[in-house]
Parts: sequence; structure tokens; C-alpha cells
Amino acid sequence: MTWDLKSIVVAVDGSDQSIRAAQRGVDLARMSGAKVTVVTVVRTPEGWWGIDGEPPTPEALAAALAEGQRRVLARVMEQLDTDGVEVETDEELGDPATMIIAVCEDRQADLVVVGRRGAGLVERLIIGSVADRLAHDAPCPVMIVP
Ligand SMILES: Nc1ncnc2c1ncn2[C@@H]1O[C@H](COP(=O)(O)OP(=O)(O)OP(=O)(O)O)[C@@H](O)[C@H]1O
Ligand SMILES: [Mg+2]
Repeated sequence: MTWDLKSIVVAVDGSDQSIRAAQRGVDLARMSGAKVTVVTVVRTPEGWWGIDGEPPTPEALAAALAEGQRRVLARVMEQLDTDGVEVETDEELGDPATMIIAVCEDRQADLVVVGRRGAGLVERLIIGSVADRLAHDAPCPVMIVP
């Protein structure tokens, strides 16, 4: 039985690593005829509790996050070569790994592709926390691109 690769989810946080990983996912989709969903997740701020001053309204906060997210996705899409591939973008708010998993379930993903590291500021020897969580909990095979 051959692997029927129909739906690939690629997760990007705007980092070069994630864009390189996404390109691998798109290239694989071109070879297999799969559709691609490019997802970016904005982590909701932990909250203003304990911080002095007025919190922004939820509407203002959501608008600001959505705007930033659109910019990240637009930049990623500019850099990806998606010729001949059916690509959709998806923007989510929340915990990145949890939301990526939810998108995999929603899209019935046959594969999810992430970078080994991302936009985290810490120069790590170990795998990033989002990639790590996916390796443990994703509902489909995971491709982690170094
Ligand atoms: N917010 C996000 N939205 C979509 N994909 C993400 C997001 N964060 C990470 N990823 C995916 O996971 C890959 C690994 O990033 P990860 O966040 O695990 O590492 P890191 O940023 O280096 O470390 P950490 O976030 O644990 O400090 C990225 O290359 C990207 O593919
Ligand atoms: Mg990160």
C-alpha cells in the first residue's frame, strides 16, 4: 500500500528555520499532489494581571495580534515557492502546539512539517518546545526539519 499523502500542514512562526521547513513541506506536496495548509499561531499574551495600567480592550488586542499575524504570513508566503501547489493559510490564536494539533485534526493532515527550532530568542542545543510537543502529541507523522 502506498502512502496517500493528501493533506500537509506546515507551521511557521516567521523564522528562517520555519520557512525552510515549510518549503520542504510544499515541495513534498508538489511531488505527491497534496494540499498544504500554512498555519501561524499567535500566543495570546499571558495577561495584564499584576501589571500597572489599563489593559487594552480585547478587541484592540485581537486586532493588533491579527495584524501582526497577517504580516508574518504575508512575508512567509512571499518567500515560499508554491508554484503548482494548492496552498491555504490559516491564522490561529492560542498555544502554538495545541493549535497546530487542532489544525492537523481539522485538516485531517497526513503529515505536519515544522522546523527543529524557531523564533525563540534562546540559542538552543535542544529541540524547540513546539517541535518537541508535536513530536509527542501530533495526530499524524511529524517531519522536523533541521
Ligand atoms: N507560533 C507558531 N506558529 C506556527 N508554527 C510555530 C510556532 N512556533 C513554532 N512553530 C513551528 O515550530 C518550529 C520550532 O519552533 P519552536 O518554537 O519549537 O522552537 P524555538 O522557538 O527555537 O524555541 P521555544 O519556542 O521553545 O523557545 C518552528 O520552526 C515552526 O515550524
Ligand atoms: Mg518558539
